[in-house]
Amino acid sequence: MRYRTLDPGRLVVASHNKGKVREIIELLEPYGFDVVSAGELNLPEPEETGTTFEANAELKAVAAAKASGHPALADDSGFCVAALDGAPGIYSARWAGPDKDFAMAMRNVEEKLQEKGAVDPAARRGGFVAVLCLAWPDGHTEVFRGEVEGEIVWPPRGEKGFGYDPMFRPDGHERTFGEMEPEEKHGWSRTQPALSHRARAFQAFAKACLEG
Ligand code: IMP
Repeated sequence: MRYRTLDPGRLVVASHNKGKVREIIELLEPYGFDVVSAGELNLPEPEETGTTFEANAELKAVAAAKASGHPALADDSGFCVAALDGAPGIYSARWAGPDKDFAMAMRNVEEKLQEKGAVDPAARRGGFVAVLCLAWPDGHTEVFRGEVEGEIVWPPRGEKGFGYDPMFRPDGHERTFGEMEPEEKHGWSRTQPALSHRARAFQAFAKACLEG
């Protein structure tokens, strides 16, 4: 499969979520783009009307690329709990309500797991999904998905990261994402495989569009 290569220059990070923007800027750092976020450009936040991560990533990236006249990279992501049939999934941000109250959203996940009797680690499985979409102003897009699996822990642990990070412990690690420094959560350098869903999607994006 041939991917379109992204030329050096201005790149818009098509997100208004501070946690995501920070992580994407960290991942882009070695590539020397002139990175600006959709928030800094005062771009409107499109309504996420898609029913898949891919559709929502694409609509955010295309809207930002067309509005700014520059290539734009969007991330649509979520926390998917197996015993809850993949919820909150694409509605992960909405579970936190207008105040973005993730302590409440995490409690809600835990209450639903308790209602299902999901008490042993084997029943408390889940993970994060991230889909990155790069769009050019002419409407061309490239899409990449990353996933990470692990255990849903309670009570939440750690103050680092954002969103549902404190209640997720990736397989093969002792710490939750909320207890990890950014480098450990990304788990990725040019020589190491990625750990987080976002870094895994980014690694595929970098290989296809930045190093191709
Ligand atoms: P959206 O992609 O803007 O719909 O929002 C995704 C939501 O999923 C975020 O607001 C977080 O709640 C959650 N999420 C996505 N990625 C992560 C992550 O890396 N850590 C914790 N929560 C995340």
